[in-house]
Amino acid sequence: MSFVVAIDGPAGAGKGTVAKILASECNLLYIDTGAMYRAIAYASLKNNIDIKDENKIVELAKNSKIEFISDKTYLDGNDISEDIRSMEVSSIVSPISSIVKLREILVEEQRNMAKSNNVVMEGRDITTVVFPSAKYKFYLDATLDERAKRRYIENKEKGMDVSLDAIKENIKARDYNDMHKEVGSLMKTDDAIYVDSTDMTIEEVVEKIKSYIEV
Ligand code: DC
Repeated sequence: MSFVVAIDGPAGAGKGTVAKILASECNLLYIDTGAMYRAIAYASLKNNIDIKDENKIVELAKNSKIEFISDKTYLDGNDISEDIRSMEVSSIVSPISSIVKLREILVEEQRNMAKSNNVVMEGRDITTVVFPSAKYKFYLDATLDERAKRRYIENKEKGMDVSLDAIKENIKARDYNDMHKEVGSLMKTDDAIYVDSTDMTIEEVVEKIKSYIEV
């Protein structure tokens, strides 16, 4: 029987970095669900679809193929790993991810991806909606200042020039929207293990999570 390690938490808490390391050390398939919402946000921009046009966005999602191949995100066969991290995408992805019908489509895809593999899946609604009965459930958190700082450094390393203030504002707005969705809103369940990574190194977070997992 395959199992799921589910990790939820706000933007910049370190979910992606931690999940990637866990995947390689514990031989799990890594699924970045935020990248899936980002892929649809990116495709909406590309196709000049108004973010309020829910029907068109849902149609787009039905006709799009999102794949993860060796740490890269592909949309209809094209590598969009870099494009989906732009501020343009970051600023529209949260409202787009509020579209209930879009969530239904992507949640189904996420469940299918976990059918025949042990997976580590991270996002906002993995412990609540996608896999409420996951064997391992974590809520990874950090202060807003720390999360903004991490994103700032990450962007700098990629050559993206976005101010710390702009990143902080974007994260704050997304946090609010992500916590107040009609469906799939970010929350900590009683049975999820809470990890505050503010003063922890990545290695410490990975070790802590690994200490609960029996592979
Ligand atoms: O993890 P991320 O920052 O790449 O996610 C991008 C956006 O997608 C985030 O603002 C909220 C949304 N999202 C979601 O609604 N549900 C998920 N399971 C993952 C992400």
